[in-house]
Parts: sequence; structure tokens; C-alpha cells
Amino acid sequence: MSFPDLASLHALGAAQQPTYPDQGAVDAVVAELTTARPLVFPAECDELTDKLAAVARGESFLLQGGDCAETFAGVTADNTRNKLRVLLQMAVVLTYAASVPVVKLGRLAGQYAKPRSSDNETRDGVTLPAYRGDAVNGFDFTEASRVPDPARLLEVHRTSAATLSMIRAFINGGYADLRQVHTWNTDFVASSPAGQRYEALAHEIDRAMAFMTAIGADPDEFHSVDFHISHEALVLEYEHAMTRIDARSQGHYDLSGHFLWIGERTRQLDKAHVELLSRVRNPIGVKLGPTTSADDALALAAALNPDNVPGRLTFITRFGAGRIREGLPPLVEKVSAAGLQVAWVCDPMHGNTFEASSGYKTRRFDDVIEEVQGFFDVHHQAGTWPGGVHVELTGDDVTECVGGGEELAEVDLGNRYESVCDPRLNRVQSLELAFLVAEMLRRSR
Ligand code: PEP
Ligand code: CO
Repeated sequence: MSFPDLASLHALGAAQQPTYPDQGAVDAVVAELTTARPLVFPAECDELTDKLAAVARGESFLLQGGDCAETFAGVTADNTRNKLRVLLQMAVVLTYAASVPVVKLGRLAGQYAKPRSSDNETRDGVTLPAYRGDAVNGFDFTEASRVPDPARLLEVHRTSAATLSMIRAFINGGYADLRQVHTWNTDFVASSPAGQRYEALAHEIDRAMAFMTAIGADPDEFHSVDFHISHEALVLEYEHAMTRIDARSQGHYDLSGHFLWIGERTRQLDKAHVELLSRVRNPIGVKLGPTTSADDALALAAALNPDNVPGRLTFITRFGAGRIREGLPPLVEKVSAAGLQVAWVCDPMHGNTFEASSGYKTRRFDDVIEEVQGFFDVHHQAGTWPGGVHVELTGDDVTECVGGGEELAEVDLGNRYESVCDPRLNRVQSLELAFLVAEMLRRSR
């Protein structure tokens, strides 16, 4: 079975694709990307598959997080470090407080393309094509900026490479060393109860590390950390061109990221996104929203993981706080009864978005927590493992989601609303989420 070319993928039909005005320009970009440097390596993808297999078996927990939509302008060392830092802090809270290994997966270094519920956006009587992420067009509300430009895909490759190289440098340079648990928190402690709670935990970790060193553990063991990157595989030109044959295994890998997922709007069976990701060997995910039937889930698993390899397939459910307790059980029951090896992960963001009276898209922190609690309860009742969370977050003190310990109100949203797409948890809210999830995890073990 030969690997499908781009034209045959398009022939299957693909939702949410840009309409490029100049096919010649698209072809030139695709040709350039086809020989561009890979961002990740097949062995790293396999390593992540193994880690996700432990999640599927109920031995580890996945923390996947980052922006809804990265932007080219947002690729700065500070921004990347802040996101890495909040993810590391959350992982420490989950690992230590719940005594469970945590698989850390950034929603970054490639998260530039967005599916939209409407093709157009209207402001003050003017209608233009919707913004589809920096991978496709510009956020500015002008006609010129909203025209899809394929050259942006080359910039996706460049900025993803830059982000990943910063992450690798932070990690190899010791920033993620467990002995830095306090450093990640220094600018944070006095100002917030979550920061103080974290500091107390960091002191316990210090003592635990001192104990382990005293009994002969090698302190260098604390030095490095596993971290992988992920994004939604949306624009076919990019994902197809970044797919390469691995010389070792002769298998195909999409080397634009370690883990790719198919979104709620592009998971149609027999269409291009499912076909493409069924043919690569990366670990992959699929978002499952409230319209997913148990049979849909079985059919997706059959198409995407026919050999039932543990760690290969992650189901990322996003029902909404009000629907998860009814919607998720039939899926979990049927998938388990069929003996399918999947990791179950909760995205408590995308089913809980609403528009505040001020016009900002937002989410309530309490709804996010309620959905995660529902997810844990459903899995507890079914005897399955609540394998992780997938969250939109940032390491900065933005004001995009309401609630949390700081009791951010709808009137505060305008203070620092920076997301170009969905609202993200800020640093304090992210850490609070980690503490609450750690308690749920501890109770479920
Ligand atoms: C997203 O993850 O930003 C997204 C668009 O999610 P979903 O496909 O679940 O709607
Ligand atoms: Co989003």
C-alpha cells in the first residue's frame, strides 16, 4: 500500500482547509517543505508512544498544554520559558502530590492552524474571511491580511524550529532540573496562595531529593526531563510535506511534531485527516465531542489503530461540564468492552466556551474543574483510567478565563486579553488546576 500523495488526500475531501488564491505558490511552498529539516526524529516519537502506552495501562498521567493558537510574534525566549515553566510546575505538583509519573507534552512548536466554526467574520457590517491561525492568514481585520498565504507555512516551520530549539536548550541547560523547583516559583511566591502552596511542596521535594542523594541516588538523575511537542494536524500541505520515511523502520512519520491530533471538526472517517494520520507512525490523538457515538469511537480506533498498539491512540474527550457525565460513559464502556487500548484524556476547555457580555470569548474556571471531576468520576465508575488532561494555558498573567482563586470577573477580561483564539488559563489558574487534579488523582489511586 503506497503512501497517499497530496492530491489523493484532497480528493478524499478535507474540512477546514484554506482556499489559496494561487496554486503555483502553494506548489512552490510544498516543494520547499518537502526537503526542509525535520523538527523531530522518529525515535523520539516512538519513545512518546511508549510513554503513552503507560498512560493507556493506567501507570502514568498525561499533561498536555499550551496556547490555543501560537503566533509568530509570540515566539520569544520569555514566552517559551514561561510556558515551559508553568508546565514543569504543574507536572511537579501532579507527580509529587499524586505519586504518579507525568508525561509532559507541550501544545506548542507547531500549534498555528485553527479550525473555525464559521468561514467568515463580520465586524461593524464588514465581512471578511475568518482568521485561521498564523499558519494560514493574518489576525488583522483587513482584506489583505485575511487572504490565505501559503508562504506562512514556511514561517510555521521556522518558528516551530526556533521554539523547539529554545525548549531543548532550556532542558539541556538545566532549567528543568528538579533542583530548580524553587527557581521556577521565585517571582510568584508572595503574591498568590497557589504560589505559596507550591513553595511548601517544593520544600518537601528538596527534602525528598536530599534523602535520595543520602542513600546513594545520583543527583544527575534529577537533571533532565522528558518533554515532547504536539499540535493539531490541520493544513494538509504542511503535514503531508513534513512526512518522511524512517530509514530504520521504513515507516512514515510526520516529523513536524511528536504527537499530532485530529480536531473535533476534521475527524470524519474516510476523509483526508483520518487517512493521513492513519498512515503515519507517530502517536496520535482524536478529539471526541458531544456528538460522538460509541460506534464512531470504535470506527475511529479501527481506522487509526487497527493493530491495537497501546500508546498509539489517545482519545481526547471535550464534552463540556454539563454533558460529560451522560456523554462519556457509553463511549468508555463500548471501547473497553471491545478490548481497545487507548489513553483517555480530558480536554475541559473546548466544551465550556461562552461569550461574556463584553464580547470576549471566555471559560469559567469552575466549569473546567467540574468537567475534569466528571471525567474522573466516569472513569472511576467504569473501572478505566483517567489518563490525563489537555489544557489551553499560558505562563503569563493574562485575563482570559473567569474565576479561580483570584476570582477574575467578566469585567476584568479586557485588562490583559491576549489570545488570538480561545481563552487560556493564566499561570495562577493553571497551578490551581494542577493542585485540584492532583487531589482527584490521589483519590482515584
Ligand atoms: C483546539 O484544540 O483548539 C480545538 C479547536 O479543539 P476542538 O477540535 O476540540 O474543537
Ligand atoms: Co482552542
